Amino acid sequence: MSTQAPGRAAVLAGLGASLPVRILDNHEIAGRLDTSDEWIRTRTGIAERRVAGPGESTVDLAAEAGRRALASAGLTGPDAVDAVVLATSTADQLCPASAPQVAARLGLGGAAFDLNAVCSGFVYALATGGGLIAGGVARRVLVIGADTFSSLVDPADRTTVPIFGDGAGAVVLRAGLPDEPGALGPFDLHSEGELAELLWVEAGGAKRRSSDDPRDHFLVMQGTAVFRHACARMAESSRAVLERAGWMVGDVDRFVGHQANIRILQSAAKQLGLPADAVVANIQRVGNTSAASIPLALADACADGTLEPGHRVLLSAFGAGLTWGSTLLRWPDVVPG
Ligand code: UT7
Repeated sequence: MSTQAPGRAAVLAGLGASLPVRILDNHEIAGRLDTSDEWIRTRTGIAERRVAGPGESTVDLAAEAGRRALASAGLTGPDAVDAVVLATSTADQLCPASAPQVAARLGLGGAAFDLNAVCSGFVYALATGGGLIAGGVARRVLVIGADTFSSLVDPADRTTVPIFGDGAGAVVLRAGLPDEPGALGPFDLHSEGELAELLWVEAGGAKRRSSDDPRDHFLVMQGTAVFRHACARMAESSRAVLERAGWMVGDVDRFVGHQANIRILQSAAKQLGLPADAVVANIQRVGNTSAASIPLALADACADGTLEPGHRVLLSAFGAGLTWGSTLLRWPDVVPG
C-alpha cells in the first residue's frame, strides 16, 4: 500500500521513551544458556537489553513514554490529543486493547486503540495516526510503540532470549503542512501473511486457545529466513519511499531502521548505498524492542545529537506477519521529554 499526504500533513511535534530499569547483559544470559557474549555481540550487535520487572507491563512502559512525549510537545490536559494509537503485539490482556488503559493513565478520554503489526507496528501506527489527522478526524494524535517480548520468549531458547528486549517510545503528531520540518510521508506499507510461521506464537489466540506443550505459547523464530527477508524488504521499501518523495539516496542524512540485528541494518544500508555513518543504532544497549525500536532509536539519537534539526531521515521497519514499511521526514526541532 502506498499513501501520499494530501494538503494537511501529520507533523512530529513531541518525542518520549521509557525503558525498564532491569538490565540483562550478555554475560548473565551466557550464565544460563549455551551461548556467549562474543557470539551475541558478533552475530547481533547486542551487548545488553532491558527487561520488565515483576508486575511491570506494556501499559506501564507505554504510559510513561506517552507522558514524556506529551511533555516534549508541551501538551497537558484531557484534550491534549484526540487519539492514542498504541502499536504493540504484547498487550497486557488478549482482550481488550491496552491503549484505553494507557489513555486513562494519561488522563486522556479520546479515541484509543491498539494496532498489531509486530516490529513494523510503529511505522504502521505513524501512517494510521497521520491518516486520522489528514482526514480531519483528529488534530493531534499520540502514537506509541511499546512491547514486552520478555513475556513471549522461551527462557530456555538461546535463539530468541539474546535478541529481544522490552521498552516503549512515543511521538505526538499534530496537523500541519507537508513542507514543514517533521511532516511525515510518503509511506510504503506491505505484508506477506503466507510467511506468518517464520516468526510466531502458535497458541493462545482464537484458533488454538491453549496447548499442552508450553513451547507453543512462546515465540518461535526461523532466524535465518527472517534475516534474509528483513534485509531485502527494508532496502526495497526504502527505495520505494525515496522514489515517491523524489529524494536521492544521497539526500538521506540518517537511516533509522528497525533495530533487529546490527547486520540487518548494515546490509540494508549497503544495498541502498548509504554510508555507514548514516545508520542510527542503539541496539547495543536495548536489543530488539519490536514496536518500540524505532521511536527508542529516535529518542536516543535526538538526545545524543546524532539526529539534528533539518536532517533528512529515512525510517524503515520489518517484522512478523510478515509486515514491513518505510516513511520519511525532515527532522524537526524537538527535545525528548
Ligand atoms: O524483529 C524482526 C524479526 N527478527 C529478526 O529480524 C531477527 C532476524 N534473525 C537474526 O537476527 C539472526 O538470524 C539470528 C541472530 C537470530 C541468528 O544468527 P544467524 O547468523 O542467522 O545464525 P544461525 O541461526 O544461522 O546459526 C548459526 C549457528 C548455528 O550452529 P551450527 O548449526 O552452525 O552449528 C546455531 O545453532 O549458531 C548457532 N546459534 C548460537 N550459538 C551460540 C544460534 N543461536 C546461538 C546462540 N549462541 N545464541
